[in-house]
Amino acid sequence: MVIAIDGPAASGKGTLAKRLADHYGLPHLDTGLLYRAVAMAMLDAGLSLEDEAAAARAAASLIADKLADPRLRERAMGEAASRISAVPAVRAALLALQQRFAGSAVGAVLDGRDIGTVVCPEARVKLFITASASERARRRHRELALRGEETTLSAILADIEARDARDASRATAPLKAAADAVILDTTELDADEAFEAAKRVVDGAQVH
Ligand code: DC
Repeated sequence: MVIAIDGPAASGKGTLAKRLADHYGLPHLDTGLLYRAVAMAMLDAGLSLEDEAAAARAAASLIADKLADPRLRERAMGEAASRISAVPAVRAALLALQQRFAGSAVGAVLDGRDIGTVVCPEARVKLFITASASERARRRHRELALRGEETTLSAILADIEARDARDASRATAPLKAAADAVILDTTELDADEAFEAAKRVVDGAQVH
């Protein structure tokens, strides 16, 4: 069983994907980490994020053991990832890797922006997780504060709005709910409630 989870930045899709993966005993891939790792490799090598050919090369030579680096979670890395993720050759280089992961014998949970639309269009379950921009900004602000990253709520909200606009407007695989995705708005839900709602969708899909 493949569970595809998409949604905008800080919608709670990562937490939800992890919980669903634990619950159903499936491997989980946070695909945002792939884009973040490509961006980090470029920044570490002193390359400009505008250099599309270099971005494509960095994506093609992505090393899986880089995915555990805590710097990937930093705010700047999310921004940089959003920028290089608009390059079609970067997306193409990461596609096969994601599809291999989704093809594991037991199934998988993948979360990102284009899982239900491009990476796993045949996924049995597709969820599109949203929340208002201000609620997502509050969550991201809290999360960064817990990790000791000092930011203001208004700076985070500006980031989120810019990232939404960029992720949704790019020509290749923009952020968008698949036609057959179930939309789950978590603005008024805590993590447990979101998990229960998602579980009902998955269990319903398994029965039918
Ligand atoms: O989910 P995240 O914040 O870690 O993602 C960082 C950026 O990576 C996001 O702004 C856009 C890009 N991304 C993407 O284009 N496609 C995906 N499947 C996952 C992430």
